[in-house]
Amino acid sequence: MTSTSPASGTKAPQVDDAIADALSTIRRNIAKFGPAYPDDTTVDDRYEPRPAEGGIPLGGNRGWTTSFRTGMLWLAWELTGAEDYREAALVDVADFERRVRAEEDLDTHDLGFLYTLSTVASWRLGADEAARDASLLAADHLMRRFLEPAGIIQAWGDLSDPAQRGRTIIDSLMNMPLLTWAGEQTGEPRFDDAVRRHTAQLREHILREDDSTFHTFYWDAETGEALRGGTEQGAADESCWARGQAWGIYGFAMNYAVTGDEQLLEASRRCAEYFLRHLPADDVPFWDLVYTDGSDAPRDSSAAAIAVCGLIELASVEVDAGRAAEWTARAHAILASLIANYTPAAAEDSDALILHSVYDLPKGNGVDEGTLWGDYFYLEALMRVAKPEWKKYW
Ligand code: GLY
Repeated sequence: MTSTSPASGTKAPQVDDAIADALSTIRRNIAKFGPAYPDDTTVDDRYEPRPAEGGIPLGGNRGWTTSFRTGMLWLAWELTGAEDYREAALVDVADFERRVRAEEDLDTHDLGFLYTLSTVASWRLGADEAARDASLLAADHLMRRFLEPAGIIQAWGDLSDPAQRGRTIIDSLMNMPLLTWAGEQTGEPRFDDAVRRHTAQLREHILREDDSTFHTFYWDAETGEALRGGTEQGAADESCWARGQAWGIYGFAMNYAVTGDEQLLEASRRCAEYFLRHLPADDVPFWDLVYTDGSDAPRDSSAAAIAVCGLIELASVEVDAGRAAEWTARAHAILASLIANYTPAAAEDSDALILHSVYDLPKGNGVDEGTLWGDYFYLEALMRVAKPEWKKYW
């Protein structure tokens, strides 16, 4: 399927073969894993079941990435109408309902990633009432992390953990849609208020003057004072972690669309411009944007996949037609490179849809591997090009 984007007049990449390859891998993974969840990243391009930890058994639903498998299953079902994808997605959804009711591994802002792509998607696609109830429970849990007077949602850990207290991270922008959805469903203003205040704090402090971003930022939880930026997964506190910048493009654009705060639109544009200015010749970033052409640092294809979705989202809310055309054209170029250069030579060569991502290089975790989120956003990018009318789960 090749289409011409009305916004840009550019040719979108040919995605039919890429979608067919992705779907065949997803179907193989259903057979390989059944209801067990794969780990965050591949090892030598193969996913293994998620290790047991904290009383949760091998292949269990813990951590922040399990819903990316569910999201891929929903996308596969929407692309094909094939019931086996939907049935597998519903097995996950039931398990996400169980997880939130059992209060298992919920001490994270990533409840947004986890519940948007599982139970909220199930509600959006099938008016599933049990999934709606579970999503609202997850949104309530996420609200417990909202810190007054700082006006931010704490990212990681127990709220009394001094090392994490008052800290948030740029990825959190992607967790806001769970709150926005809960506000729409309940009519309770507390959800929208939290989204407005949290996103305004990130726009103000995590986005730097040169349009790059900090990965993480600390507030004094008692006084609300903004303290300092830093990194967790980037090359240095002052460098620009590629995936964080991609989260910024997508997250600021989405939150602009629901809040109407024009400074968030400008923040998304600034993230996009910086990201695009720092791409190497093949349009897929090094894992940190401090590296440029000629470096032998690993790439992060997952950042590229997120950026494609983010740029298409930005184009959809952009008020300047010329800029929308530019965002769309650059998204198409990045996606074309992912398809041509970052997919397995034969779909059977890997369990991942795209190769060469980085999870956390400073900790030596998932370097130059496939990742569940890279796979999800790659398939979302293919969906966005194949079916521009597709309604996102976020
Ligand atoms: N949200 C965590 C990451 O992007 O690695």
